[in-house]
Amino acid sequence: MDMNPVDIAVHDLVVNFGQVRSVLTGVDLAVRRGEFVALIGASGCGKTTLLNVIAGLVPAASGTVTVAGSGPAAGRADICYVLARDALLPWRTVMGNVEYGLELSGVGREERARRAATYIEKVGLSAARDLYPSRLSQGMRQRASLARAFAVDRSLYLMDEPFSALDSQTKLVLHDQLLGLWEKSGATVVFVTHDIGEAITLADRVLVMSKKGTGVVDEIRVDLARPRSAEALQADAHYHDLYRRTWTSLRASAQ
Ligand SMILES: Nc1ncnc2c1ncn2[C@@H]1O[C@H](COP(=O)(O)OP(=O)(O)O)[C@@H](O)[C@H]1O
Ligand SMILES: [Mg+2]
Repeated sequence: MDMNPVDIAVHDLVVNFGQVRSVLTGVDLAVRRGEFVALIGASGCGKTTLLNVIAGLVPAASGTVTVAGSGPAAGRADICYVLARDALLPWRTVMGNVEYGLELSGVGREERARRAATYIEKVGLSAARDLYPSRLSQGMRQRASLARAFAVDRSLYLMDEPFSALDSQTKLVLHDQLLGLWEKSGATVVFVTHDIGEAITLADRVLVMSKKGTGVVDEIRVDLARPRSAEALQADAHYHDLYRRTWTSLRASAQ
């Protein structure tokens, strides 16, 4: 991983909202290809803004941002953005929703159906494939969102607190499913969360952002073996060491 090329390079980034208000100042970030990075920090410290800059949705006032060798731009075909509220289309079934992303990418009908069914199976939703989102629990909806996101096979996933609305038991299931999908994909992931356990369970590195909007102030390298099991980690002493270390750092970052 340490030898992989840098996929996202942010240097001395400044983002302003309005005339004077700086939301981010002097932010640096480097994420390697295939790396899973978690961003954690106090509410309002600019996590979503940073993702939006990488996604090309918010402009930098100054500094440089490079994503897979070029400047950020909205609607890039190599990036998938997954949000807290799943964006399932209510008038389409689970199958229809997972096929939707493939339709937009121009994948033919048969291949679409085959891929959609495969990814729906990977997230354990085969029995629900013909249901509409209104019939699904929040956890099932996010599973369908994950299936849709990974069926399109992007090289970069930006995820903004995708599991924040879920109870802790359901989260563990989703963590395992996300890890299963990601580990085979080779994709780079930048995952925003305020859940320390989630960050450690998923990521190669946890980056702690300062409350003041000055970006990453600490890095916790998560040297837990892969493949990981979210449930097994609950009984792993080193997981709890990393948890405490991150907790201490997060508390210091909020001063
Ligand atoms: N469109 C906007 N216009 C003005 N201020 C904004 C806008 N979006 C976010 N902010 C402000 O920028 C700061 C960072 O927000 P955000 O990136 O959403 O933080 P986080 O995701 O870490 O909670 C906050 O103070 C927020 O109020
Ligand atoms: Mg946010």
